[in-house]
Amino acid sequence: MNGRVIGLISGKGGVGKTSMCVNIGVGLKQLGKEVTLVDADFSASNLGVHLGRYDHPVKMQDVLHEEAEPSSAIFRHPTGLKAITASNEIHEVEPDLSLLRDVLEEAGKESDYVLVDCPPGLNSTVEKVMEACDELIIVTMPTQTAGINAAQIVEKAKQRHQAVLGTIVNKMDNNPETELVEREVEMMTESDVLAKVPYDQKMKESLFHNTPLLVYDPISEAAMEIRKLSHALEGQQYTEPRFAAIKRKLIRLKEKIKR
Ligand SMILES: Nc1ncnc2c1ncn2[C@@H]1O[C@H](COP(=O)(O)OP(=O)(O)OP(=O)(O)O)[C@@H](O)[C@H]1O
Ligand SMILES: [Mg+2]
Repeated sequence: MNGRVIGLISGKGGVGKTSMCVNIGVGLKQLGKEVTLVDADFSASNLGVHLGRYDHPVKMQDVLHEEAEPSSAIFRHPTGLKAITASNEIHEVEPDLSLLRDVLEEAGKESDYVLVDCPPGLNSTVEKVMEACDELIIVTMPTQTAGINAAQIVEKAKQRHQAVLGTIVNKMDNNPETELVEREVEMMTESDVLAKVPYDQKMKESLFHNTPLLVYDPISEAAMEIRKLSHALEGQQYTEPRFAAIKRKLIRLKEKIKR
């Protein structure tokens, strides 16, 4: 295989890169694709937390420092995803990235997709991680500040002639009075909006339970939008499960009564 190496990148922190990386991955896995997630956010690595506090002994830094083979760092998660997590040790926050591209290519040999959880910001580490990816998906929120940071990343990518697939606008409230709308994000970033993921309490809940949203609550609105994007990456049309909205309402009502 020669898997696509796609970086999930944002400029601004906390917009949902890791959440998107994990859940797009689950969506692709559910389509029968082989997916490897790679944590390249070395200063605040938390892919392992999103995957259920998975603690695999061989980390990304071990591979980058040639202390381990990439194959020994890859582990299989119960969702069927494969992953390489990163160490949180303070002395490991700035690993030598000269082997990063080789590691991603190695991961791509046995995967259809390698999804790279990029670090936030726009510094030399972020640039090196960007460079090691074939394609980028920008993750942003419908705020001016996030939009500006996303636009900076797109500009940087364009300077490097790097493919930008488009932008995910995450945590949308669907309130044009107080947030950027799709067209504004597209104008700011000069890229297509690939998905508009609503602000969804279920996303927070799923992280609290260390379970990807697409597994924790597959008919939540955010889960369905992310699944649609996974389908789009595969060139497939997504059809919502029948009566999803009614089922969701009933489930939420039951949850309220329980409380
Ligand atoms: N659509 C959403 N609705 C509600 N909460 C969300 C949504 N997406 C992400 N979150 C929450 O926002 C927080 C940050 O998400 P996440 O860790 O994925 O961001 P990040 O961009 O990877 O952050 P960092 O830059 O720190 O790595 C988490 O608590 C997550 O559960
Ligand atoms: Mg993250």
